[in-house]
Amino acid sequence: MAGIELIDIHKTYLVDNREIPVLNGINLSLPAGRITVILGQSGCGKTTLLRLTGGLETADSGEIRWESAHKTAFVFQEPRLMPWLTVWENVVFGLSKKETDPGKIEAVIRTVGLSGFEKAYPAQLSGGMQQRAAIARALAYEPTFIMMDEPFAALDYFTREQMQKELLRVQQERSASILFVTHSIDEALILGSQIAVIEKGMVKALYEVKAPQEERNLLEDEMITLKRDIINNLHFI
Ligand SMILES: Nc1ncnc2c1ncn2[C@@H]1O[C@H](COP(=O)(O)OP(=O)(O)OP(=O)(O)O)[C@@H](O)[C@H]1O
Ligand SMILES: [Mg+2]
Repeated sequence: MAGIELIDIHKTYLVDNREIPVLNGINLSLPAGRITVILGQSGCGKTTLLRLTGGLETADSGEIRWESAHKTAFVFQEPRLMPWLTVWENVVFGLSKKETDPGKIEAVIRTVGLSGFEKAYPAQLSGGMQQRAAIARALAYEPTFIMMDEPFAALDYFTREQMQKELLRVQQERSASILFVTHSIDEALILGSQIAVIEKGMVKALYEVKAPQEERNLLEDEMITLKRDIINNLHFI
């Protein structure tokens, strides 16, 4: 299990000699074995925060403290599959021979609903199927921490619901920690143990959702109140 402390994270980009401050002092605890969801307006720095947390980029200042050894996998905002490799080859690409257990790979591909497409190339898949292949690639790595950037955005309502359930199952089975970005408040309420709203490069609001995910009902008063509160916090200007 791996938890992470983000302490006073700052990040400014330079575009065309102009400074674009993106993160202005993010403080956030990502508990081990839990799902932390990030919500916030387009361009507010969610992907940047994910990339920094996962070590793909470095912060200008602040500290990212990992509580224990970790194995991180990413699901990016776009699938990023290798077009010359089949689904199966994409999924096992980062694995050593020893890690490639065909039975496990088959199970992971089944989890994302791509059984029968193992030999298909990315160009032969729909956008949502490609994204599911990217999720399978992340899961096959058996990470302790998964960074997921709007992973279900390209999926239809029912597939998305199915994938949310599968993700919860896999997460609970392995006690994985997840940092999950979405624009869907409902998705945040279905998945999150905690939900952070980012605005102006800082955590504007942090919600804890105590009820176990499998017992949640978005139509219950408590959830509706929480949703309303989050919507108010996402209302800019
Ligand atoms: N590599 C980069 N170089 C320069 N500017 C960048 C870079 N990456 C991101 N930015 C800028 O940082 C800001 C935040 O971008 P980011 O991708 O983190 O937003 P986001 O919250 O993920 O948005 P979305 O919801 O649209 O995916 C934007 O203004 C963007 O232009
Ligand atoms: Mg983004």
